Formats: sequence, C-alpha cells, structure tokens
Amino acid sequence: MSLKRSYMEIELKMIKLVKSTFYNEIETKKKLCDFILGSKQLSMNQKCLEFETKFAKYQGRKYAIMVNSGSSANLALIQSLLNLKILNKKSKVGFSALTWATNIMPLIQLGLEPIPIDISLKNLNVCSDNLLEVLEKVELDALFITNLLGFCGNLDKISEICKKKGIVLIEDNCESLGSALNDVKLGNFGLASTTSFYVGHHMSTIEGGMVCTDDKELYDMLLMTRAHGWDRNLSQDKQKRLMKENSVDDFHAKYTFYTLGYNFRPTEITSFLGIEQLKFIEKITNSRCKNFHKFNDIANQNPHFHKLDASHMSFVSNFAYPLICKDHDKFENYKKKFVENNIEIRPIVGGSIIEQPFFKSYESTKKINFECSNAKKANMFGFYFTNRPDLTEDELELIKNLLRSD
Ligand SMILES: Cc1ncc(COP(=O)(O)O)c(C=O)c1O
Repeated sequence: MSLKRSYMEIELKMIKLVKSTFYNEIETKKKLCDFILGSKQLSMNQKCLEFETKFAKYQGRKYAIMVNSGSSANLALIQSLLNLKILNKKSKVGFSALTWATNIMPLIQLGLEPIPIDISLKNLNVCSDNLLEVLEKVELDALFITNLLGFCGNLDKISEICKKKGIVLIEDNCESLGSALNDVKLGNFGLASTTSFYVGHHMSTIEGGMVCTDDKELYDMLLMTRAHGWDRNLSQDKQKRLMKENSVDDFHAKYTFYTLGYNFRPTEITSFLGIEQLKFIEKITNSRCKNFHKFNDIANQNPHFHKLDASHMSFVSNFAYPLICKDHDKFENYKKKFVENNIEIRPIVGGSIIEQPFFKSYESTKKINFECSNAKKANMFGFYFTNRPDLTEDELELIKNLLRSD
C-alpha cells in the first residue's frame, strides 16, 4: 500500500473536529449552485437583510448586522463603541483570560487597555468572583466577556454587577450559539454580542459573523462601521439628518465618509448560506447538547479530570468538549490515548491568552501582572475533541470508553 493511500485511510477514519462544510452538505451545495446561477447580484443586497432579520429573530434581539467573520464582528463592535464615544482610548476593558486571539486583538489594535480576568475551572468562564477580584484592583469601563465552548459563568450576576457599576457589558458569543442560562440565550446579557459562522462553529457560512443588539443607535453605527463609514445602509431619514448636519449635497453624499469604518461586508452567497443553515440550527444544537451531556456525565465520574459543572445552564451547545486533567502525567496519558485512537484533539482555544507571544510583545500589556492560574492550567493540562452533530453511535461509544478509562 502506498504511503499516500495509508495516510488517506487514516484521515478517513479519523474522528475529526470538522468533517464537512455544511450541515446537510450535498443538498446545501446544490442549492448554492442554483442560487449563484440564478442571481444577478452577488455583492451584499436583499439576502443579507433577509438573513439578518431571521437571525435576529432566532437570537431574540431587535437588530443583527452580518459581517465577513467573527473576528470582524469583534473589531466592528469595538470600533462602533469608540465611534459613539461609549468607549475611548483610555477605557479599561476586562476580558476572559481563556479566549480566542481576535477577542482581545481589537482592544489592542484600537489602543484601549485590556485587563485579563481569570476563569473558573468549573465552567471555563469568568464568574462573578473572578470579576469582583479584578474590580478590587481596577475600575473597568467595559467587560468583553467570552462565552467559551458553549458554557457561561453566572452571567446573570455578572450583568447585574456591570449595571450597578456602569460597566458596559458585551459578549463574544462566537463559541456558544444556542446555549442558554435561565432560558435566556447567551449573547443576550449585555449591550451587544458577536457570533461566528466559521465552518468549524455551530452553523457555517464558510466564513461569516454577526453582531446583535437591541440598541438602535449602535445598530446604525455598526451599519456605517461595516461599510467604509458611509451612510448608504441607513434609513433615508438618518441619511438626510447626517447630510444636513455635515452640509453635504446629494451628489457628494455618495462618497461622504462620516465615521471610522472598514469593509467587513458579507456577500449574498454567505447570506444565502446563513438562511439555509439557520433552518437546521435547532437540530444542530439539540444533538450537540445531547452529546455534551453524554460526555459530561461520564467525564465527571472520572477522578483524573476536573469536573465541568453546567448545572446552572438551561441549554449547553458546544462544538467541542473540553477535558482538563488533574496533572501533567494524566494529561499526557489521555492525550496519547485520544491520538492513538485517531481522534483529533486541539489545545483549549487560545489557552491563557496573556501567555501568547502577541500579547507579551505588546508594550502596554507588559505592565499587567495579573495572575490567571486557572486559564494557565486549562492550557497546560487540557485539550478538546469534537462534539459534531453527526457523530455516529460507534464514534460516540469509542469516545465514551476513553473517558471511562483509567
Ligand atoms: C471566542 C472567539 N471569538 C472570536 C472568534 C473569531 O471568529 P472567526 O473565526 O469567525 O473570525 C473565534 C474563532 O474561533 C472565537 O473562538
């Protein structure tokens, strides 16, 4: 057998983190071909509006703005809060130490002061105790919390603390679409939240993202930030008001740039995919929730792992299951077992993000000497494996047996 063929066979048998581009892959691709062939305009247009409207309804928010990735959603949101002067260059913004790089990068890129907050090993998220500990040392202007891997801390309590102290709460919900606390979907606890439609996440538009909010002013600003800082996607009333305030005539209004923006526009193609995949979102999240509980019930019986407690949540939908071992030897032992059984594993998201080279190289973060020991532990002794909605019974059995093993 050739080496190439044996690699291919290993690949085929592997329990991969991501197996296909879409839920209902073949049908979706066929529909996509028909859509492209039958469309006159593929740059942002009506399909985008339609997906935004449907997604806002699913999320339970008034407004949704689609962009070209979850990372762009984060950057557009922070830029919009700066444009509206809700935040400024001196703002101190708390963030979860266990997160993804592009949660925190916009804070650095836009010159704000990022303040790391450690997580609880019980649910891998920032809890009110972690927040209160930091608030004893620093006054925060905002908290850009991450809902990591389908979980949350006590977000209801965190939201109360933020309200009381005048801290702007925003949620990076790129990893937790569909999860809920007290029957409230994650992403609905602050002023705004972001979502990612990257292929490996809950629902795929290949690449894509969304910002959701109930705030009309922020919505309008996001529409401008998403597209060059111009007014083209605003209502006619709002356009007229801006033209009058800035003494702009009809002709020049076409190329008048009112605020700092980017080009983060999605296409009709990704919007079409969003509409199609949203039809399956309940199926996707329900089967992920079912798998999660199967894995968690077994893992929590094994004394070699830190117990994950999601009992405060009404619905848990994660795209991967995180396993944190109690020590280095056990970590090496289970890592080996998963690899030998051909199950793809990865470090837990970005690990403790303050240990990452980019974070350490940024001048103004050097003075931050917050200890984030739990995030560090999750990084040193943890890995995750897939919680795909299409895992077969055999694949589930194999994983469950490994979780049971000594
Ligand atoms: C918490 C979190 N925020 C933001 C992002 C960025 O999303 P995207 O890959 O769509 O840019 C990710 C990506 O994995 C993430 O995990």
